[in-house]
Amino acid sequence: MAADDEILSVHDLRRSFGGVRALTGATFGVGRGTVTALIGPNGAGKTTLVNVVAGAMKPQAGSVVFDGRDITGRPSHDVALNGLIRTFQISREYPAMTVLENLMVSPQGQTGEHLWTVLFRPSRYRAEERAHLERALEVLADFGLYEKRNDYARSLSGGQKRLLELARAVMARPKLLVLDEPMAGINPALITRLAEHILALREREGTTFLMVEHNLDVVEDMCDNVIVMAVGRTLATGTMAELRENPEVVSAYLTGGLVDVRAQG
Ligand SMILES: Nc1ncnc2c1ncn2[C@@H]1O[C@H](COP(=O)(O)OP(=O)(O)OP(=O)(O)O)[C@@H](O)[C@H]1O
Ligand SMILES: [Mg+2]
Repeated sequence: MAADDEILSVHDLRRSFGGVRALTGATFGVGRGTVTALIGPNGAGKTTLVNVVAGAMKPQAGSVVFDGRDITGRPSHDVALNGLIRTFQISREYPAMTVLENLMVSPQGQTGEHLWTVLFRPSRYRAEERAHLERALEVLADFGLYEKRNDYARSLSGGQKRLLELARAVMARPKLLVLDEPMAGINPALITRLAEHILALREREGTTFLMVEHNLDVVEDMCDNVIVMAVGRTLATGTMAELRENPEVVSAYLTGGLVDVRAQG
C-alpha cells in the first residue's frame, strides 16, 4: 500500500516496562477508510500499542505518523485534536453523570472553553453549545440511547456502556477511531448492533477504524484487513482467509495457548 493511502503509519515501535518487553518492533499501516483489526494472543502488546499510538504512553523507539503528521510521543489531547480518538478495553463512562452529560463533556476544541469567549462573545459560545447539544442528541439517537439520555450512566447495562463509550468517541467526528476490544463481554445481539454502527459510521462520516478484537468471527465479518501481533511485534498482515494459511500466525496463536485460528469462523 502506498504511504499516501495510509491514515496511520507505525514504524518499529518499542516499549519496555522494566524487564518486560511489551513492544519489540511494531510496524504496520492502516488504510484510509478501512476497518482494520489488530489481533493476537493475550499479552501480545495490543493495548500497549494502542496506548503508544494514542499518546497515553511514550515509546522508547520508533515512529507514529497520523494523517501526514509525525505524532510520536505527542500527548493524547493533542492527538485527539488532530482527529485520532481511542476507546478503552474497560468502559470509562462517568457513572454519576447522565448519558447526555457524558457526551457533552467529550473533547471538542470549543472556543467556549475560554473565559474570554464566554464573557465577551456569548452569542458565539451559545451557538457552539447548541450545535454540541444537537450533535449529542443525534449521536444518541443513532446509537439507540436517546430514550436513556437522562438516566445515570451507572444504571446502564454492560452492553449499553459499550455503546455509550463508542458514542462519546464519535462526538468529535474523529478521522481515526482506535477501539480496544469494543465487543468484549457483550451479548451476540449487541455485537451485531455494534458492528452495524461501526460500518455505518465508516459509510456516513468516512471514519477509519483500527480495532483490537479477540472474536475472530467478528473480525472476519467486518474487517478489510487484519494485523497479527505476537510477543510485542507485528507478525503478518492480510485477510483472515490468508492468515489462516500462514503457519507462523497459526503457531503464534497455538503457542499463545488461547485461540486456534483454524478452529474459528
Ligand atoms: N503498565 C505496565 N507495566 C508493566 N507491564 C505492563 C504494563 N502494561 C503492559 N504490560 C505488560 O506488557 C505485555 C503486553 O501487555 P498488553 O496489555 O499490551 O497486551 P494485550 O495484547 O493488550 O493483551 P490482552 O489481549 O490480554 O488485552 C504484558 O506482558 C503485560 O503484562
Ligand atoms: Mg489488551
